[in-house]
Amino acid sequence: MKKSNKYTVTAALPYANGPIHIGHLAGVYFPADVFVRYMRRKNRDVIFICGSDEHGVPIAMQAKKEKKTPQEIVNKYHRMIKDCFTNFGIQFDNYSRTSKELHYEVSTSFFKKLHEKEKIFEKVSEQYYDEEAQQFLADRYISGICPYCKNDEAYGDQCENCGCSLIPEDLIHPKSTISGSFPVLKKTKHWYFPLNRYQKFLEKWILISHKKDWKVNVYGQAKSWLNQGLKPRAITRDLNWGVPVPISEKKEKVLYVWFEAPIGYISSTIEWAQKKKIDWKPYWKDKKTKLIQFIGKDNIVFHCIIFPVILKAYDSGYILPDQILANEFLHLENKKISTSKNWAVWGHEYLEDFPNQQDTLRYILIANMPEKKDNNFNWKDFQKKNNTELVAVLGNFVNRSLTLVKKYNNGIVPNPGVFSTKEKNILTKIKNHPEYIGNLIESYKFKESLACFMNLAKIGNKYLTEEEPWKKKDKKRVETILYVSLQIVGMLAQLSEPFLPHIAKKFLNMLRLKPFLWNKIKEEILYPGHLLGDPTFLFEKVTNKSIEKQLKKLEKKSCK
Ligand code: 2FM
Ligand code: ZN
Repeated sequence: MKKSNKYTVTAALPYANGPIHIGHLAGVYFPADVFVRYMRRKNRDVIFICGSDEHGVPIAMQAKKEKKTPQEIVNKYHRMIKDCFTNFGIQFDNYSRTSKELHYEVSTSFFKKLHEKEKIFEKVSEQYYDEEAQQFLADRYISGICPYCKNDEAYGDQCENCGCSLIPEDLIHPKSTISGSFPVLKKTKHWYFPLNRYQKFLEKWILISHKKDWKVNVYGQAKSWLNQGLKPRAITRDLNWGVPVPISEKKEKVLYVWFEAPIGYISSTIEWAQKKKIDWKPYWKDKKTKLIQFIGKDNIVFHCIIFPVILKAYDSGYILPDQILANEFLHLENKKISTSKNWAVWGHEYLEDFPNQQDTLRYILIANMPEKKDNNFNWKDFQKKNNTELVAVLGNFVNRSLTLVKKYNNGIVPNPGVFSTKEKNILTKIKNHPEYIGNLIESYKFKESLACFMNLAKIGNKYLTEEEPWKKKDKKRVETILYVSLQIVGMLAQLSEPFLPHIAKKFLNMLRLKPFLWNKIKEEILYPGHLLGDPTFLFEKVTNKSIEKQLKKLEKKSCK
């Protein structure tokens, strides 16, 4: 992979209308965090940017549902989401909110400049209006019959039954979800972005330049949009919650959330740079900087089509994304995760139920990441993977090795004797692991990189079991076996951090080691004479009782 100066890594700004669940973590935030932690250990100049998306219909709808103001809703969920990320060890350089003054300034300056340069245009059109509620209806506020599958609960933007995307006018018998009344069509003025003018530019950039290096699902969706032919798209809305349109005399016109939220990546970076008193521009405008965006599958079009053309039209040297990474969906117990149906494992609840076991969920969700196809999370598998992989292989191998060194050599790394051929092979093999794992992470193959890490623990566990140092009479032989085991243990401790950051800290402390830079990991990690700390258990078993409790919790949810 070509090396470059700077990396700007962004993770989709979550809507502050509900807590974070395992689908979000597996789809976006864990892979992004693994990538960034690895890049930091590679000593790359990388920033990790995110924040809460606090505008748009999803927030307004949640406010109605909870009988609160939108401000109260975003305050509540912003705090919850931020804490959840912190507790799972997701280490953003900056976590902002789109309700901040700075974001208003940055997003309105984009709009104003596009307007001044005549890159956007005004148009009056007819849109659905609820006369009872006296407001225009956002797409999500209209429901009706899907013209394709006849589902009678389709929304004005999408039918969740057949998955097709819709416009409100497509719905048969549209109805306002606010008052239940039949909406009327009424004239309203909006600003439009002529996406069609950028069709050629996007075809060249996506279909030619990124055919090979974008993930199939991302490339495929972008291509299908381009094949349908792009049309102008409104970038303002009639809503009383959002960033007001800076040139409109009417108060209840705001920037479309999908226009301003991606600009939130930029305002969050500016906020970070202001705090650090450094220049933000190289992270967004230096041609050598790589912009890498981790997003949800339903965000693909906005990141591949809309945001890039906004940056292009704004025309002040912004770089375009180098990579846009979206996973498929994670299901829970073979059913689609649904916030509205409360069918989810919520991050904050997991943290309460499994204190200090954040890394277990990190491990299981990375191992089950829906990288190429939908995948499933189930509690029995969670228990099995924890008990048979983390506890019985990784934890057990480390604990056995350290306990033996304590017993036979007072906790000091022994001087090895002559290595057998098998041992020479193992020592050579483990030396390659930082590079193997690093290459997989840099190719965004997170599942495989974790499997490669775990394979090392399997090698160690098998080696120790086969060699049985506790049965050996020859002291030098015992020392040699323990030395080899410890090199694997040290390697595991050094490589664990991107995947298991909380455990890594404990693990390295136990070995009295500092984290090495990734490129230095190949050197002898635990040299003879080094005094190790006392062995403690890195992982704990997940009991049947705690799994039953989770299954009961889900059962209750499905009855509601
Ligand atoms: O799907 C979502 O949760 C959106 N809030 C993601 C926005 S990503 C970015 F564009 F801000
Ligand atoms: Zn349908």
